[in-house]
Amino acid sequence: MQGKRILLGITGGIAAYKIAFLIRMLKKSGAEVRSIMTPASCDFISPLVVSTLTGNPVGIEFWNKQTGEWTNHVEYGLWADVMLIAPLTASTLAKMATGNSDNLLLATYLSLKCPTIVAPAMDLDMYQHPTVKRNLLQLEDDCVTIIPAERGELASGLEGEGRMAEPETIYTALSSFFNRTQTGSLKGKKVLITAGPTYEAIDPVRFIGNHSSGKMGFEITKACLAEGAEVVLITGPTNQTLTHHRLQQIDVVSADEMSEAVKSNWESCTIGVFSAAVADYKPKAVAPSKMKKSDTDPTIELVKNPDILAWAGANKSKKQYLVGFALETEDLLQNGMNKLKKKNLNFIVLNTLADEGAGFSVDTNKITILDECNKQTEFELSSKQKAAENIVEYLINSIS
Ligand code: CTP
Repeated sequence: MQGKRILLGITGGIAAYKIAFLIRMLKKSGAEVRSIMTPASCDFISPLVVSTLTGNPVGIEFWNKQTGEWTNHVEYGLWADVMLIAPLTASTLAKMATGNSDNLLLATYLSLKCPTIVAPAMDLDMYQHPTVKRNLLQLEDDCVTIIPAERGELASGLEGEGRMAEPETIYTALSSFFNRTQTGSLKGKKVLITAGPTYEAIDPVRFIGNHSSGKMGFEITKACLAEGAEVVLITGPTNQTLTHHRLQQIDVVSADEMSEAVKSNWESCTIGVFSAAVADYKPKAVAPSKMKKSDTDPTIELVKNPDILAWAGANKSKKQYLVGFALETEDLLQNGMNKLKKKNLNFIVLNTLADEGAGFSVDTNKITILDECNKQTEFELSSKQKAAENIVEYLINSIS
């Protein structure tokens, strides 16, 4: 972030109060910050707070009513390396989508020479409204990067999607924006991604499953979308959500369903990234009604599930590129190499539960990539978002 010039646009939502924390983080990391606030945002955070924290005057009006001095919105646009608008309200979103410039922030947005990143914040029903969804799609088409709103408690007392991403998340998105050397490297490529766990039914109410959250697969999906790819995401049950006009999400429950979805889509894709934690076994028979307790201990007979990745490897054309994952508890590299060869992969992403911070239920991961030439690349412990970006960057370098 050192020396980066961030133009921070603040609009009138309650999440504006959190921006003070973001400014502190940006300043501490060496960034220069200037801010433009919409008149409505001044009801939620004082311009004095923003100017004190940024160390710069805040732009609010087109001109100063006392001195008659004009604020040059074009100059703001020329100065910035990136414009971040956070929080982004439904009103400013709609104006950005239609090219309305009735305040300084909007006029600056229309004059920008640099990329724009936005962090929407709205109440539950507003965020779900078709006009808001349509306007967000329009912004994406206009090459604006969207940091999606998160789920949680909203100021209205409702619970759901609409909270502005936390300052830490916005900070990470900004720093990965500056770290990214290439953009649009996967434009024109269709990527098939598997994610999440599979649930194998025992009876209508019980199943065999695992603790996979699906986060890694969703982060890889985001990283591929950010590079311009079209993505077919085939996911087991998960709480993760993602909407994007280049994303086709296919929800499945069992390994058999995931296998069918992969078989129908693999041929049309050029890249496969298989991060799903597929259950290796399923009950041989699914009880047609809820199994009752009995005096004897029941035994569930298991049979093998299809190995979906191995099928994709066996049906891989010369033009296709295939990436697998492996979670190992011992002999990480040897087991990884065996899987890479057996499943005909181009590279495999390894992680081990022996590493603190890696695994299903944590937000971080420590990965090693092993390729077909036995080259090992170890990465530092990082967020799953960063790990996903590393994997996608490695993928881009490997295919180009
Ligand atoms: N995989 C798959 N279908 C399966 C099992 C695994 O597609 N039925 C994929 C996973 O998505 C992952 C890779 O294969 O990309 C490795 O999964 P893993 O369970 O570690 O490997 P297995 O071959 O099942 O070996 P083991 O469980 O014996 O370690």
